[in-house]
Amino acid sequence: MTEKNVAEHYTHGALVAELEAGIARLGKTIDTVTLDDLAPVDEFHIGGRQASEAFLDQLAIEPDHAVLDVGCGIGGASRFAADRYGTNVDGIDLTDEYVQTGNTISKWVGLDGRITLRQASALSMPFGNDTFDRAYMMHVGMNIADKKALFAEIYRVMKPGGVFGVYDVMRFGGADLTYPVPWAETPETSALAPPDVYRETLEAAGFTITAERNRREFALAFFERMQARVSAAGGPPALGIHLLMGETRVVKVKNMLANIKDGIIAPVEMVATA
Ligand SMILES: C[S@@+](CC[C@H](N)C(=O)[O-])C[C@H]1O[C@@H](n2cnc3c(N)ncnc32)[C@H](O)[C@@H]1O
Repeated sequence: MTEKNVAEHYTHGALVAELEAGIARLGKTIDTVTLDDLAPVDEFHIGGRQASEAFLDQLAIEPDHAVLDVGCGIGGASRFAADRYGTNVDGIDLTDEYVQTGNTISKWVGLDGRITLRQASALSMPFGNDTFDRAYMMHVGMNIADKKALFAEIYRVMKPGGVFGVYDVMRFGGADLTYPVPWAETPETSALAPPDVYRETLEAAGFTITAERNRREFALAFFERMQARVSAAGGPPALGIHLLMGETRVVKVKNMLANIKDGIIAPVEMVATA
């Protein structure tokens, strides 16, 4: 797996236009669309906004904190954090189109002065040592094989005593996964790891883990509600993460859900202190 393969996997090609079309279907424009309207599409992780809220609330983010969103995607969680905790947020992501789209959306909702997204690898971030009070990473480690290097790099940019949260899909048991899934078409771009690898590599980097929570039941309930809404409406909503997942979106979600049900994967939160 190369970073180029990963960025290609996520690149849509015409994402701003796709979002503008979705906003029009909602009966809104880029001048009237709100953070809440965008939440179903700009939070690309299991549980969407609800998951972000439950996860980020554990990080005790204060308005004067320097906050980093590692693998920010199109920046939904960055905007949510900036809005909810009154803070500024820096985000980095490998996929250039996501970064450009994210910065465009921040302008639409008037948050561009407080959020800066840039293209970079989480393994080599354009920040000095001891820069951030808080950092978080949501559904990114599944594409990064070298967890040791990843957490060492995050530790480097965090201030001592800073708090870092991970919310990733993790591996359980040895059974084969069914692909494609939202983060990978094939096993070649998937780098799932079990919770003990996360714990060991976080601790090896210098972090102390203070909390861990398996979100399997939350994920299953979330998908059940989502499927009920889609069935009742006779199709997906105007704005949703299906817009980010390409032609194989239906099978990707179906496989992910089956993998969770089979106990092969689950989303897990970990909170750690630097
Ligand atoms: C499933 S999306 C999650 C995006 C965002 N965190 C969210 O929750 O909405 C995974 C993201 O990880 C990014 N990513 C994967 N590998 C990366 C790396 N080595 N460095 C930075 N970003 C990476 C991808 O470009 C993609 O935007």
